[in-house]
Amino acid sequence: MKDKLANLKKEILDYLKEVKDDQVLRELEIKYLGRKGKFTEVLRNLKNLDANEKKEIGQLANEIKKEILDKFKEVKNIISGENNQNKNIDVTLPGKKIKAGHLNPLTIIQNELEDLFIAMGFMVLDGPELESDYYNFEAVNIPKNHPARDMQDTFYIDKKNKAGEYDLVMRTHTSSVQVRAMQKYGAPLRCVVPGRVFRCEAIDASHEHTFDQMEGLMVGEKISLVNLIAVMKELLKGIFKKEVEVRVRPGYFPFVEPGIELDIKCTLCEGKGCPACKNSGWLELMPAGLVHPKVLEYGGIDPQKYSGFAFGLGLTRLVMMKYGINDIRLFNSGDLRFLEQF
Ligand code: DAH
Repeated sequence: MKDKLANLKKEILDYLKEVKDDQVLRELEIKYLGRKGKFTEVLRNLKNLDANEKKEIGQLANEIKKEILDKFKEVKNIISGENNQNKNIDVTLPGKKIKAGHLNPLTIIQNELEDLFIAMGFMVLDGPELESDYYNFEAVNIPKNHPARDMQDTFYIDKKNKAGEYDLVMRTHTSSVQVRAMQKYGAPLRCVVPGRVFRCEAIDASHEHTFDQMEGLMVGEKISLVNLIAVMKELLKGIFKKEVEVRVRPGYFPFVEPGIELDIKCTLCEGKGCPACKNSGWLELMPAGLVHPKVLEYGGIDPQKYSGFAFGLGLTRLVMMKYGINDIRLFNSGDLRFLEQF
């Protein structure tokens, strides 16, 4: 009798696993639990057992019945839930439009530049935004208390090191990665370093506390300004998709000697003069120069054998020039009306 009950239970539960619609469920219920149902019949036969068996088997049968009824209820709920869901779908409603995301203009230009430099054999490197005073300043030939430190308003971190000095800064430029790269890879070396930099600036349409630069560094034998200008022209062709005229002026930066400022002929007025170029016909694009021998030494590279050039491309400025964006504050504003235009 026990076996019979167990088999019947298994049979019913197995069937229930397969049931997917109401009609079949009802038929199943009638087949087993209906008045002439198989399970009902077994229950009816209990009365023929002797008193002891009746008690034991009766209890078991009741438990099994409860289990089966619960299962029926569960399956019924699942089936009716699905039906309800199906009923709630209005197939005539227009679908939800999934908006395609897009890249920030800075990222677009950065990607283009990276591709360009990779094609010229440059590595794309990264460096810490929270930098040591050493790599941000000293290693690029800006010693403590040197007036050149005033060229960059700096966020120092309010924590002293063991020697009692404040030696952590938010990096003020990507030049901080120059010596890191030289120490890690040695010469010859070609790399670009895109990244965020920070200055304690009074903010206005052309000054921000957080902006992006791309440092470039090439070290090898007999590297000169000729190589620098050739690389720059290639870069500009890639960005502006046409030959751009450049001019070079002297400039001062402690980590290069000689230092230069590279200007491009205004891309808006072709050099005739317009508000964008303040009527000069030229736009300042970036500072650059030949790596100072002391910086090479800090990087563990012999300045007698190797020379190099470096540049500090203002990525944010370049993007502003390319897209005609006249307020730098828009980049960090999070304003979708700005961001969605690209
Ligand atoms: N690091 C400089 C700045 O942020 C820019 C710069 C100038 C980088 C000359 C260079 C360079 O690599 O050669 O103001």
